[in-house]
Amino acid sequence: MHPENIVLLGFMGTGKSAVGRMLAKRLGSDWHFIEMDKRIEELAGLSISEIFPQEGESHFRDLETQVCRELIGEHHAIVSTGGGVVTRPENVEILGSFAHLILLTATPEVIFERIIKDGKEKRPLLAKPDPMGEIEKLLAVREELYRAATGDYVDTTIKSPSEVAEEILALLRENGDVTC
Ligand code: S3P
Repeated sequence: MHPENIVLLGFMGTGKSAVGRMLAKRLGSDWHFIEMDKRIEELAGLSISEIFPQEGESHFRDLETQVCRELIGEHHAIVSTGGGVVTRPENVEILGSFAHLILLTATPEVIFERIIKDGKEKRPLLAKPDPMGEIEKLLAVREELYRAATGDYVDTTIKSPSEVAEEILALLRENGDVTC
């Protein structure tokens, strides 16, 4: 285990960003929050919803891997990943080399609700006529990748971000990663 950093994995809409921010706040000023998608946007000079149609998914995935590599050497970082980071085994290997990986899950129905509320145009992979069908299709492919990446997970379906953050803290305490 690598208590010096925490990486949150999970499908779109499982609460990685909200929970990550909450965790950073709870852990105190010694810790900081990193949003991988934001790093990718900075690198590309484009928003996520521009990168997919203009540059294609495989270019996005290359940038994602580059950002994974650039995170090596972080200290006390809480990283929120994009939901597709697990689609490249190399990414999981890199992230696992410097952080404790924690998976967030939720039912497809709740994922759908959260994404619609957030605006599905922000998620180019779901900006399609049948977003629920897309969620189910992507989850079917990714489920085993998420599970293979880490055994530590929290289901967020009926929990608020602060409840999930508390659950993660309990898990980290149990593991001896943090003392607060
Ligand atoms: C993606 C998830 C998104 C973003 C991009 C691709 C995916 O991040 O990286 O749209 O492949 O699941 P969030 O999980 O933060 O929405």
